Amino acid sequence: MHVLVLSGGLSAERDVSLRSGRRVAEALRTERPDWEVREQDVDAGLLDRLAQHRPDCIIPLLHGAAGEDGALRNVLESLNIPFIGSSAAASRLAFDKPIAKRLVEIAGVSTPACVAMPQSTFRELGATGVLDAVVASLGLPIVVKPTKGGSALGTSVVHTAAELPSAMVGAFAYGEVALMERHVAGVEVSVSVFERVGDVLALSAVEIVPEGELYDYAARYTAGTTEFFCPARLTDEQALAAQALALDVHVLLGLRDWSRTDMILTPDGTAWFLEVNVAPGMTETSLFPQALLAAEIGLGTLTAELVETAVLER
Ligand SMILES: Nc1ncnc2c1ncn2[C@@H]1O[C@H](COP(=O)(O)OP(=O)(O)OP(=O)(O)O)[C@@H](O)[C@H]1O
Ligand SMILES: [Mg+2]
Repeated sequence: MHVLVLSGGLSAERDVSLRSGRRVAEALRTERPDWEVREQDVDAGLLDRLAQHRPDCIIPLLHGAAGEDGALRNVLESLNIPFIGSSAAASRLAFDKPIAKRLVEIAGVSTPACVAMPQSTFRELGATGVLDAVVASLGLPIVVKPTKGGSALGTSVVHTAAELPSAMVGAFAYGEVALMERHVAGVEVSVSVFERVGDVLALSAVEIVPEGELYDYAARYTAGTTEFFCPARLTDEQALAAQALALDVHVLLGLRDWSRTDMILTPDGTAWFLEVNVAPGMTETSLFPQALLAAEIGLGTLTAELVETAVLER
């Protein structure tokens, strides 16, 4: 078996992706010493290399655009090379936060109220009037983030209307559309989902307690700045609600193989969907590997199974 792990790329999350790729490749080599497992950055030479040395299966571990928005997966589908993870079409819907939120909301999932605002609209209509209307409808605090992004880059919490314009500029640095979302105060958890012989299974929720207000970039990748609890400190009812939400999202959005849903649980028992990741982080401090470890499932074991299934079925 020849497996190619794709990581790196040109997104803002390049470094995180390289670490995710390294970790998965090493786990796979340990699990299957007889397999040829290579790591590959994504650049202009990729297609030539795929043609020269066609892998049996690809593991796309690019975070952010291109990797998670479906573009690269579309190319792999055109080349007819099996890969693990969600299809291009499903990834495209899941990666766009307001679209994913609306799709799951239609199916009855709770997700915080939001307004998506392209930079052009913001400029044409005049920042002040637009933002006053948004504050009046959502209330404060508001979380501002890029509609397509990850690792909380460009994300901030706004407590007063005066802070909103600079928060918008921060989000626009990562994309043309910014999402303003009602802030939800509660317990933040992330639930990882994976498929095994036709079953869709949810791992225990991982609870995230960042030092500051947000689980931001520094909180993610600086050791010791965030406390994690796995399993999360939840009642049985809350734990089940969190897992049910992640399973619902995975199925509703037509995701495949693995995903990770981020949410906030409020005291009234509601699980609020924030977003879902089709290429969950796999670094040492990432949530998916923590949840696997708690369930005593090896990352190499799971990945090898998913590779074998993809090669047989796709
Ligand atoms: N509506 C909200 N209410 C409260 N906190 C929020 C809200 N939205 C986001 N956050 C905080 O901001 C962080 C980043 O938000 P979110 O998960 O939506 O974006 P992301 O950058 O795509 O993250 P990831 O890398 O996990 O894909 C969350 O982990 C959470 O701490
Ligand atoms: Mg998130």
